[in-house]
Amino acid sequence: MGREYFIAGNWKMFKTAAESRRFVRDLAAAFTAAPGLTVAVFPPFTSLAAVQGLDPKVRIGAQNMFYEEKGAFTGEISPLMLKDLVEYVLVGHSERREIFHEGDEDVNQKLLATLKAGLKPVLCVGETLPEREAGRTLDKIRGQLESNLAGVAGSQWARIAVAYEPIWAIGTGRNATPEQAQEVHRFIRGLLEDKAPGNRIQILYGGSVKPENSLELLSQEDISGVLVGGASLKVESFSAIIRSGLTLLGA
Ligand code: PGA
Repeated sequence: MGREYFIAGNWKMFKTAAESRRFVRDLAAAFTAAPGLTVAVFPPFTSLAAVQGLDPKVRIGAQNMFYEEKGAFTGEISPLMLKDLVEYVLVGHSERREIFHEGDEDVNQKLLATLKAGLKPVLCVGETLPEREAGRTLDKIRGQLESNLAGVAGSQWARIAVAYEPIWAIGTGRNATPEQAQEVHRFIRGLLEDKAPGNRIQILYGGSVKPENSLELLSQEDISGVLVGGASLKVESFSAIIRSGLTLLGA
């Protein structure tokens, strides 16, 4: 099977609706589509309506979602509200876990709710620096995957992507080396093959991905994409990362 790359931009709490719309237009003009390449951006909720239908080359995702369909949950957004606006949803980003105290149980419920709504979750997992230094990286990742993916069944696996984002590498300028990333990706690949044999689940690397390191990261055997924060906020840097994928696809 040929390689496929998923290049995703997590905008976090940046960009107004007008800025988002302009960005998606400019980004679409900055790269050519190719078989095997998927490009998606994850704007804030307030931009989702504004980026609808701009260009099929740029897919759209949400950064978060609550798992109930409706009810008295002030400030939350439901799967039903997102269904017609996005294709993907980030689930369990480390900023949601660390700053907003989402536990593994919440992440699992959100993941199952995205699947139930027909959406495609991008499940984020990763270790802290003390966990890495204590040699507990793989245990942490295994624990997160076991609990966060509990209850996923059958054809649902085909809609899931996993993003490995070492927390110490997010927004710090300190990325995992391609070898460090590959080691964890291979481990994740093995666990997913046991859980969902026959499904080639995309595993993205995230954490200070930049044009300068994207080619080397994407060349690793088990890295099938990148989840980019800071460098996805400028068309120039994000399209340069997309070009790394295109280069490796021979496009
Ligand atoms: P970063 O963020 O690229 O700015 O490190 C990545 C992420 O949080 O998804």
